[in-house]
Amino acid sequence: MGLFITFEGPEGSGKSTQARRLYERLAAQGYPVILTREPGGTPISDMIRRIVLDLRHNEMDPTTESLLFSAARAQHVAERIRPYLRLGGIVICDRFADSMLAYQGYGSGRDLDELETLTRIATGGLKPDLTFYLDLPAAEGLERKRRAAERPEARNPLVPPVAPPERVEWNRLDARDLDYHERVRAGFLELARREPARWRILDAHLSVDELAERIWQTVVPLLAGIKPVGEQAT
Ligand SMILES: Nc1ncnc2c1ncn2[C@@H]1O[C@H](COP(=O)(O)OP(=O)(O)O)[C@@H](O)[C@H]1O
Ligand SMILES: [Mg+2]
Repeated sequence: MGLFITFEGPEGSGKSTQARRLYERLAAQGYPVILTREPGGTPISDMIRRIVLDLRHNEMDPTTESLLFSAARAQHVAERIRPYLRLGGIVICDRFADSMLAYQGYGSGRDLDELETLTRIATGGLKPDLTFYLDLPAAEGLERKRRAAERPEARNPLVPPVAPPERVEWNRLDARDLDYHERVRAGFLELARREPARWRILDAHLSVDELAERIWQTVVPLLAGIKPVGEQAT
């Protein structure tokens, strides 16, 4: 039931930009669709997000971190994602469980089996139908983010942000060293290699429009089972 699409990749690779483009195109065509993100997506999950990503929380134990991410995800799946899929809708999520495996597992060297068990508990076994991976060297992604944060419109509260509603955010996980971010990237590619049917790898150097078009062409064949809002069963 429904269609669950996630966007993964390093910071600055264009996930939020593309998730929004896909959301807007589907919504414009009358498809029932929601756009959400992790960590976050519900009021409870957003509160947990603030704890996990707070730059001041340097002492956070890795187990605490994995449990908090999983707690946020459990709430997100139960309260928002699963109910919407049950209704036959499309859920687009900016990052999901694969991010935890890539960052905590491959990046920080946490036990992957344990993280996968936690993920199964948090998601109740729910997996995305399709995952886009926007591939970009870590240094380039971080540079894009830094540049975006320096744009005058990012500082002037009177000018709306480039990609509303997400603000440019520099968080505790972004601040780790480059080696860490390169391990994360290799981790994403390994996850994609293990489940090739679910993943679609895209070169994040392509233009925003080109990426949006490739993403759209991948999604279109999956829309056959989704009823546009006006045509819902009576
Ligand atoms: N294909 C692209 N080429 C060049 N710059 C891009 C592209 N996609 C997004 N950007 C820019 O890179 C920055 C990060 O994009 P964003 O979508 O927020 O990435 P993410 O959500 O993966 O961190 C933004 O300033 C955005 O405008
Ligand atoms: Mg983003």
